[in-house]
Amino acid sequence: MKKILVTGGAGYIGSHTVVELTALGYTPIIVDNLCNTTIQNIEGIEKIIGKKIKWHNTDCTDKVGMDKVFAEEGTIEGAIHFAAYKAVEESVQNPQKYYDNNMGSLKVLLELMCKNKVKNIIFSSSCTVYGMPDVLPVTEDAPFKKAESPYGETKQICEGMLKEDTVNSVALRYFNPIGSHPSALIGDCSADKPSNLVPIITEVAIGKREKITVFGDDYNTPDGTCIRDYIHVVDLAKSHVLAMNFLINNPGKYAFNVGTGIGISVLDAVKAFEKANNLKINFSIGPRRSGDIEQIYANGSFVKNKLGWEAKETLEQAMKSAWEWEKLKC
Ligand code: NAD
Ligand code: WQD
Repeated sequence: MKKILVTGGAGYIGSHTVVELTALGYTPIIVDNLCNTTIQNIEGIEKIIGKKIKWHNTDCTDKVGMDKVFAEEGTIEGAIHFAAYKAVEESVQNPQKYYDNNMGSLKVLLELMCKNKVKNIIFSSSCTVYGMPDVLPVTEDAPFKKAESPYGETKQICEGMLKEDTVNSVALRYFNPIGSHPSALIGDCSADKPSNLVPIITEVAIGKREKITVFGDDYNTPDGTCIRDYIHVVDLAKSHVLAMNFLINNPGKYAFNVGTGIGISVLDAVKAFEKANNLKINFSIGPRRSGDIEQIYANGSFVKNKLGWEAKETLEQAMKSAWEWEKLKC
């Protein structure tokens, strides 16, 4: 059984990926210091896969600690690197925290992969690297625009670090991950106050917030609200397993978009949640949010050709699972 080191494997996307890796016969080894998640996700993974999971409570920026992880685990086929901070607004307030953790953890990981002859890495990147693309749907060769936040900058810099390293790498550029595992046993346990659209909708649904403010309805889009590509986290998780299989058999450096290819407006997303769950969501229209881009959605041809991956879950399934998670989460 091939071991895959999964940094940040107790987090939102990481926990779903650990489940999918196990289903396809890999042995995931989690490294997560729980700085932005809880033990509930580890327990949830174990319930879903029906066995114990190996977990190191180690800070990925701690080279000595990470050295011990590599020494203890022996032969590792590859790493999937989720561990990073992800709150865009906080990164504007405290950029250094983001530079230290997001670049710091990758630097340590790459050094130790080289030392231990681990050749393959899948990196969690983001469509934020593109900024507002000139051509839609956006392809992987679109140029990086100036980052909208220090968080976005860390993703651009990390992709650059991968290019300069000798390691084989896949940067997966996620569009907007939403939803949860159908069991509702794992999900987003982050300490951050939600600022993403779907967690805010679910907070309104459960009564934690009175309403959602739609940030602007005067964009140049059919209904005037911003357009994004919302991808079910289970589909997203599966792309990591395919990417690892691919990289093991096709050494090199790659970047793939991971989105549905379908642009959904904010108002459409609210309506989709209402329809999926038979609930009404109170909303009002507010001013634009600074730094928001008008629209982005993925061209998925390259990832489909190379990895054979495309999104399978519907927006309705994603919205249902998001609501189930809100009701059961930590
Ligand atoms: P998350 O916060 O749920 O998961 C990250 C995990 O990494 C957490 O469990 C946290 O405890 C752990 N972690 C962070 N720093 C660590 C460190 N130094 N040492 C050990 N563990 C550490 O976030 P997520 O939504 O699952 O995101 C995973 C990755 O995907 C991140 O790199 C994020 O930037 C990227 N990403 C997320 C989104 C999104 O919308 N969720 C979109 C694009 C890219
Ligand atoms: C989606 C749409 C908002 C909240 C961010 C990061 C990006 C990536 C994913 C990690 C936008 C609108 C939202 C609200 C609203 N993360 N909205 N009212 O901005 O596409 O991307 O998360 O890499 O880097 O920047 O996602 O979910 O915040 O917003 O109207 O209360 O919903 O304006 O159009 P975004 P989001």
